[in-house]
Amino acid sequence: MELNVKLNENFGRVAESYLFSDIAKKVKAYSAAHPEKKIIRLGIGDVTLPLAPAVISAMQKATAEMGEKETFRGYAPEYGYAFLREAIRRHYENFGVCLSDDEIYASDGAKCDCGNIVELFGDNEVLIPDPVYPVYLDSNVMSGRRVRLIETGPENGFLPSPDGLDGLDSKGYVIYLCSPNNPTGATFTAEGLKKWVDFARESGSLIIYDSAYEAFIFDDHPRSIFEIEGAKECAVEICSLSKSAGFTGTRCGWTVIPRGISSGGTYLYKMWERRQATKYNGIPYVVQRAAEAALSPEGEAQCRENVKYYLRNAKTIAAMLDEKGIFYTGGSSSPYVWMKCPGGMTSWEFFDFLLDRANVVGTPGAGFGRCGEGYFRLTGFGSAEATAEAVDRISKII
Ligand code: MLT
Repeated sequence: MELNVKLNENFGRVAESYLFSDIAKKVKAYSAAHPEKKIIRLGIGDVTLPLAPAVISAMQKATAEMGEKETFRGYAPEYGYAFLREAIRRHYENFGVCLSDDEIYASDGAKCDCGNIVELFGDNEVLIPDPVYPVYLDSNVMSGRRVRLIETGPENGFLPSPDGLDGLDSKGYVIYLCSPNNPTGATFTAEGLKKWVDFARESGSLIIYDSAYEAFIFDDHPRSIFEIEGAKECAVEICSLSKSAGFTGTRCGWTVIPRGISSGGTYLYKMWERRQATKYNGIPYVVQRAAEAALSPEGEAQCRENVKYYLRNAKTIAAMLDEKGIFYTGGSSSPYVWMKCPGGMTSWEFFDFLLDRANVVGTPGAGFGRCGEGYFRLTGFGSAEATAEAVDRISKII
């Protein structure tokens, strides 16, 4: 039936379907047409190793508690149980960041928080790097926000910088940054990030910093924006256990909102608390105990081994590109390898070529924005065997 209800017209301004849904459909159609082919999936950044033993035993214990009258739990607190907020606070202490538990808001993942936080803002101009994780752009466009894309490319290592951006005046912007970056794997140095923090403080802007891949950093690149002086005045940070602890299906992340951040006398954390209390009922108890275990010294050590495994896969892919002399970013401090498509192919041409000739699935760079055209993303999240096999197949055809 055709309704007389007015719909949100902004939905007409985003691509008809989500990038990873498009890819899944294409791969399904290819598989149906070629059932004999063994397809290797290095597309969506989904983990393949099981949850760490410490996580599983915490989940089992928590599940047993839920089956006893004395220890059963109903609604969880909207912002996370105190034990989880404390575990997250301690996690930040590992890299020298001091937070208070009540600045940490646990949630069911970084993707949801990145999309939901848009509701806190009015009609600002939003600065989003290109290429970018599609959630930042799509959720702002769906909400009718004015977006300005910051172009990145090989000349700046796919790292956005406020230097040389034309036409930025002193009004406040909402700025999205992601490091290590999805999709390019490029990672900010402290100096690169400091430029953004300085810009934000000077212009009264807010940075929304997505650190979902921080666990892949093993050197001195910052793991949190709060390692940068002044960031607590102008940044919120969104993080997740999806990639660091294999929680893509288990779901747990968090947003850090420093207490002092306000605009027009209204505190951002109060708005987030109001929003979450109204629209969100918290993560299941069993998952919160699992997350606590993932962040414990024992769990963190086990999860770090999984992260190293994915990093070795990324390095295997990068080594093949080095051998072929193909430009890429990422591959260290990141599970992603962002490569130039060979032979001048467009991103989707290379997608089809790889699927058809090597039966390997990757993600077309054009799906992450105009500046991603001509690039392609491969992930280290597969198994070591499948990654080695994919690399062997790819190296034979490029
Ligand atoms: C990706 O492949 O970019 C990620 O898996 C998407 C996500 O984390 O939501």
